[in-house]
Parts: sequence; structure tokens; C-alpha cells
Amino acid sequence: MTVKVAVLTSGGDAPGMNAAIRAVIRSGLLAGYEMFAIFEGFRGIIENKIVSVDRTFVSEIIMRGGTILKTARFPEFRDSKVVEKAAENLRFYGITHLIVIGGDGSYRGAYALSKHGIKIIGIPATIDNDVMGTEQTIGFDTALNTITEAVDKLRDTSSSHHRCSIIEVMGNRCGDLALYSGTACGVDLIISPEYRPSEEEIIETLKNINLNRARHALVIVSEKQFEDLEKLRERIVEETGFDAKIEVLGRIQRGGSPTASDRVLAGRLGVYAIDLIAKGIDNVCVGLVDGRLRHHAIAEVTKSTNPNLDELLNVIDKLK
Ligand code: F6P
Repeated sequence: MTVKVAVLTSGGDAPGMNAAIRAVIRSGLLAGYEMFAIFEGFRGIIENKIVSVDRTFVSEIIMRGGTILKTARFPEFRDSKVVEKAAENLRFYGITHLIVIGGDGSYRGAYALSKHGIKIIGIPATIDNDVMGTEQTIGFDTALNTITEAVDKLRDTSSSHHRCSIIEVMGNRCGDLALYSGTACGVDLIISPEYRPSEEEIIETLKNINLNRARHALVIVSEKQFEDLEKLRERIVEETGFDAKIEVLGRIQRGGSPTASDRVLAGRLGVYAIDLIAKGIDNVCVGLVDGRLRHHAIAEVTKSTNPNLDELLNVIDKLK
């Protein structure tokens, strides 16, 4: 009997999701599986947005941002009755395996489904880079490059106006986007959950930068770090000698054509996911560890977050 494997994307979209969908579907077909696409994440299972696909379904998508399968946040999936209904729907189609492309929230949904007998493989895709079991998530590199380009541009105009740009980046309580983009752009200050100067230290640092006759100051802030970022901006204007503006980069960080690095990562992880199914391995999440493809039990990966940042924090300290 032909094994039936479905794929969906879930949570916030990330550049490279399409490349991962392509890799999963093409390698799955090559392995002899019937491949199904599910639209709109876990909600699509409940609403039966499930179709059998061939290899042309994923033609011309490797370079496209977003996800052709659409995605959704679906809090109802915390209810075990909804999860049971989803498992029933998948069984109706004869689908035994589900590949979930998304972040840690999506993994929790996938784990819940695995408890109802569906065999799961998780592929990490989120710009936040906050998924356990991998040193890099699909989408992180593209978002990092998008931020880098934006900050370089803000540097120009900040210099012209003797201004402090306070640039808010995404990350959902993980500082990787802030820490890596801050390092890539050589900014004056990074404020993230892992690197959190006090308000006094922030003001002191900016005052000193101004006293040293800098033409501008660049500050990268992870989202969700301040109840009211505007208050900090006002203090900077009043106390440091710089004019200051807040620049929230927002969902621009989630869009755009994926970088080569994200496309390659998506291809590697997608093919690896199918290889694992062929070996009879399931209920795992795939990832990169020390640059090599690895898998971990989904039960472990859903427990906690956060990779080791000590080495990067040391670089940031030495270059500030
Ligand atoms: O998880 C990706 C992410 O972009 C986070 O960085 C951000 O906090 C969140 O999604 C925003 O989600 P939404 O677009 O659903 O508001």
C-alpha cells in the first residue's frame, strides 16, 4: 500500500518555506509516497483543505517568499478534541505521516497530533531562530540580511541628521535577530533578552558616543523589551544630545526572496525529513547541529528554547 505523507506550514511565515515544501514534495514523490498538501496550517486539516499533489505543484517556487500553502495561527489546536478531530480527518485520507514546517508553536501542535497516532516530522522554519534542536532555522538568514540592508540605509540618514535611530527588530523573545544584525551592522548598542543594559547604561553610552563627536548612533532593540519604547526615545532626546527616532521594521523582515543559504538549508532539511520516513523514523524534528543534519525526539524539542550564544556575546563585547 502506498504510504501517504502530508505537508503543511504553520505559524508566522518565513522566507524559504516554499523551498522546504518543494524539497519535501519532490523527494517524497521520488521515494514512492503519495504526497498531500494541506493549506492554512492546522486549521486546514480541520477544514479539509487537503489535496494530493504532483511534482509540478511546486514548480517555480524555490525563489518565492511567503508560503504557497498559506499559514495560520490556530490557538484552537490547544484543545485535545480539536486535535483528535484533525487526526481523524488525516486518517480519512489515509495519511499516516505529517511534515510540519514552522516554529516552536507549530511543533507543539505537531507533538499533540503525534499523541493521536499521526507520525510527525518537524522542519524548523521561523525568522526568530528560536527552535531547539537546530543551530539555524529556515528564514533566519534572509531576515538577517533584510535587517542589515535596512540598518545600513538608516545609518546614512541618521548621520545626515545627527540622529539616534532606535531600530526594533522581531524575534519573539529570542535575541538572535538583534544580536546577529547588530554585529553585522556594527551598531552602537544592542538590547535583547540576552544582552540587556539598564536604561541608565543606555543613556550613559549614548551620551559618551555624542561627546566623542559621533555623527549618529544606531541602537538595535529586540521587540517586546520595553513597555513603552517612546519613553526611552524621549529620554535620549532630552539627555544625550542626539535627536532620536524609532524605526519598527515589522513584517518586512518576514518577506522577500530567500537567500541562497536559506534555500539550501530548506532543501537539505526537506530531503532529510523524507529520508527519515523511509528509515521508519518518526516523531522527530530535523535540524543542523555543528553543520550536520540531525534529528531529535519532538517531545524533547518542545520542552524549552534557546541555543548557546556565549561566543557571539563575547564578539559583541569586544567590538563595541
Ligand atoms: O514568529 C515569527 C514572528 O515574526 C515573531 O518575530 C513575531 O513576534 C511574530 O511572528 C508576529 O506574529 P504575527 O504576524 O502573527 O503578529
